[in-house]
Amino acid sequence: MTVYTLRAATPADLDAFSRVIRTAFNVPGDPDPTDTIRTVIDPARYTLAELDGQIVGTAGVFTRDLTVPGAVIPAAHVTGVSVAATHTRKGLLRRMMTGQLTGVPEAVAVLWASEGRIYQRFGYGLASQNVTLRADRREVAIRGTAGTGTGTLRAAVPSEARKELSEVYDRALAGRPGWSSRDETWWTHLTSDPEKRREGHTATRAVLYSDQSGIVQGYTQYRIKNDWDDNGPKGEVNVVELVAVTPDAAAALWRFLLGVDLTRSVVKGLSGVDEEIFHLVEEPRRLGGKVGDGLWVRIVDLPRALTSRKYAAPVDVVLEVTDALLPANAGRWRLRAGAGGALVNCSPTDAPADLTCDVTELGAAYLGGTKLGALAATGRVQEHRPGAVAATSTAFGWHVTPSSIEIF
Ligand SMILES: CC(C)(COP(=O)(O)OP(=O)(O)OC[C@H]1O[C@@H](n2cnc3c(N)ncnc32)[C@H](O)[C@@H]1OP(=O)(O)O)[C@@H](O)C(=O)NCCC(=O)NCCS
Repeated sequence: MTVYTLRAATPADLDAFSRVIRTAFNVPGDPDPTDTIRTVIDPARYTLAELDGQIVGTAGVFTRDLTVPGAVIPAAHVTGVSVAATHTRKGLLRRMMTGQLTGVPEAVAVLWASEGRIYQRFGYGLASQNVTLRADRREVAIRGTAGTGTGTLRAAVPSEARKELSEVYDRALAGRPGWSSRDETWWTHLTSDPEKRREGHTATRAVLYSDQSGIVQGYTQYRIKNDWDDNGPKGEVNVVELVAVTPDAAAALWRFLLGVDLTRSVVKGLSGVDEEIFHLVEEPRRLGGKVGDGLWVRIVDLPRALTSRKYAAPVDVVLEVTDALLPANAGRWRLRAGAGGALVNCSPTDAPADLTCDVTELGAAYLGGTKLGALAATGRVQEHRPGAVAATSTAFGWHVTPSSIEIF
């Protein structure tokens, strides 16, 4: 009988488990010892599946904070999930996921899925949507005079401007559900820009926007794919990220990106449905937005997770929750939040349920984007007290739609 064992990785396993991940994701080449990804990997947070001393499965976690409605909380950032093709569909992922979710100290886990169909069975709910924009830049113009004020733009090399970029990012972070904290090591990794990852683009460039007092209020990182044909230039601006703390910064940076000479299109993945540009332009349809799945959230410790975020309106509701993987979450919970989302309490109760759902639905609604009302319309949330869906869905919502700025 084939006996697989699970164990935590050690630093000595890094090359071997990186190879398993690269092979499963069809990435050509061997692990590169100079790759900065190694500086953010914590091997102790990787579960490895082995057969006869060979690593055949991996599931890792990055230790980072996640912005949720009204708070920034520790969240297990699940990553590096792979099973060698010769050992798939034998239950290894299920074993690793169960072990991981049972063991993580964080109250929530979050991930990007290579394929959406994999993770709902483990209680992950679709919490944010990811929009990719592909605009013909001559078809979209910024309305009126937004972004033409007294601020100034300055070009920089991202790795050299790391400190300024991180200061802007940290000021924006608390207000952006779905974004993840970045310490210095992460910033070094994210701005490392090795040639092999450019895929025909220029090096990543940064542009910083300062207001009239000289305070940096926003930045963008972008690269350009140079292209020409018989009719002339048709380059593409590929926006890596745009972070603005003020409306002027957002408008000025977008104006810049839409105006780069010798380019015809502007492409930006990892956008939210609330992206500033939708409300800045005259013709939003021409942004060519395409919606896909973004972050998947798993509630690991239900009472701790539900009391760690704020609510958009007062709520007092009894939730009957099922959770096949983590039985401690299952049962009836009374959730109470006061005005302004404060005074949150979540405790077990024998009172009759107002709503019934699986933990998957609470994960989906956790960041304030996916509406419990929408899930109720598909039968994934059941209402037992008239008005409970509307009130609870409103309370779980948030004034900023969650987005994610980075795939981890
Ligand atoms: C995805 C992957 C990790 C699955 O590993 P696995 O060991 O074959 O998964 P398991 O055997 O534990 O399957 C668990 C369940 O998920 C289902 N499942 C697993 N992978 C699936 C996939 N890609 N599509 C659809 N269903 C999948 C299985 O059918 C099984 O369903 P069940 O519990 O209802 O019977 C593996 O196929 C892989 O490494 N793929 C390439 C890399 C990748 O996509 N990783 C995920 C990164 S987010």
